[in-house]
Amino acid sequence: MPTSPIRLAVFVSGEGTNLENIIRHFAPSPTVEVALVVSNRPEAKALERARNHGIPTETVGRTMLNEEESAVMGLLDGIDYIILAGFLLRIPPYLITAFPRRIINIHPSLLPKFGGKGMYGRYVHEAVCAAGEKESGITIHFVTEGLDEGAPIAQFSTPLSPGNETPDSIAAKIHDLEQAHFPEVIARVATSHRKG
Ligand code: GRF
Repeated sequence: MPTSPIRLAVFVSGEGTNLENIIRHFAPSPTVEVALVVSNRPEAKALERARNHGIPTETVGRTMLNEEESAVMGLLDGIDYIILAGFLLRIPPYLITAFPRRIINIHPSLLPKFGGKGMYGRYVHEAVCAAGEKESGITIHFVTEGLDEGAPIAQFSTPLSPGNETPDSIAAKIHDLEQAHFPEVIARVATSHRKG
């Protein structure tokens, strides 16, 4: 008997280029499905991308996320994994408890370098550039209560040319790594730890 697909909820705050890539990757998959896209920002471009693919969307602001546990858990009924793809709010403890090793984040640096408070998006690439790093990369990791501290699942690096890079050139390299690797890592984790 065929089993039902593993259902992902993707949390996003901005542009949604990772979301788009994840949606396209799993569209033909019989085993993994993007079932829901959640954003804290109703105007996020990512929500438009989800709607264009016919995927249900929800807006969950900071107050709702932190204070309306049963409403948020209701939205996530039947979801197996939460994927953070550029989601800028902290994940509250009740969600971490409800989804142990089932919340996956992508961070645009080689953690533990350039992680923690204030290190997101462009700020990461600016800091990497200013530090004259010889490499940067992405870290895909499980989410725990400590910011950017959960166990790494996979890291991918790219060489940099200190002195010749700009935050934009670094961002472009990181974007390429994200596009190349994030969906496959999600697939690997989701299919190897089926809920049960
Ligand atoms: C990505 O660089 C991701 O690593 C970080 O936020 C960015 C999101 O970009 N956490 P997008 O919204 O997927 O285009």
